[in-house]
Amino acid sequence: MTERMAQAGAEVLVERVSKSFGRISALREASLHVEPGQAVVITGRSGSGKSTLLALVGGLEQPDAGRVVIDGRAIWREPHPARARREVVGFVFQRHLLLETLSAQTNVEVPLLGAGMRHAERRRRALELLDEVGLADRAEHVPARLSGGERQRVAVARALANEPRLLLADEPTGALDSVTSERILDLLFGLRDRLGMTMILVSYDSAIGARADRTVTIVDGLIHDHDAHDDARASAS
Ligand SMILES: Nc1ncnc2c1ncn2[C@@H]1O[C@H](COP(=O)(O)OP(=O)(O)O)[C@@H](O)[C@H]1O
Ligand SMILES: [Mg+2]
Repeated sequence: MTERMAQAGAEVLVERVSKSFGRISALREASLHVEPGQAVVITGRSGSGKSTLLALVGGLEQPDAGRVVIDGRAIWREPHPARARREVVGFVFQRHLLLETLSAQTNVEVPLLGAGMRHAERRRRALELLDEVGLADRAEHVPARLSGGERQRVAVARALANEPRLLLADEPTGALDSVTSERILDLLFGLRDRLGMTMILVSYDSAIGARADRTVTIVDGLIHDHDAHDDARASAS
């Protein structure tokens, strides 16, 4: 991780995306432009559409209308979206979704399966990542033997395993104490600074907003992009 520079971050363009679940309109013509290497925080009340937006950006859900374009390509519509996802995106889910029967180390290895990496190399890399999140000595623990903060850090390590150019994190510090939250934020923003990955983070945590390049609020499926005008001015100059 430290030696290998990832490619620059991905550019994300969400164009008038709508998504409904039955009669619930989770997103209504949402648009968002994230520059490569930018860290954007998405805030908004519970049920406003934050997780839906992340799922659409990460290609886990398909929009009813509009499109998501990553680096100029609508990759989630191309023939191999799963491969594209593995190559581009790291996802820290709202619930950690660790595999309960597997050790921390094996959980971190999961995104590397099918990437054509040799077993020993995979193990080495997973250990390196656990070391980065301060859990090298917990590599053999199954999730049940880890604290909430430790599980969250394993989830972060797993999301970083494929050196994503786009990191999506859904409340990565939710339910963590402030010290542990700080530690995860230091890790994420440190990696962003070092590797240049693009980050979209969902959070209520004002500490995250303070570190982000930009904060975007969703209200009832509508995006309020506070800095969109500044962006337009910046790119015009
Ligand atoms: N798979 C789903 N099936 C039905 N309704 C859903 C589903 N996912 C989200 N919703 C609804 O869409 C709205 C937005 O949800 P979500 O994006 O999870 O909000 P947030 O992450 O901001 O709390 C909510 O009203 C939620 O109940
Ligand atoms: Mg959510």
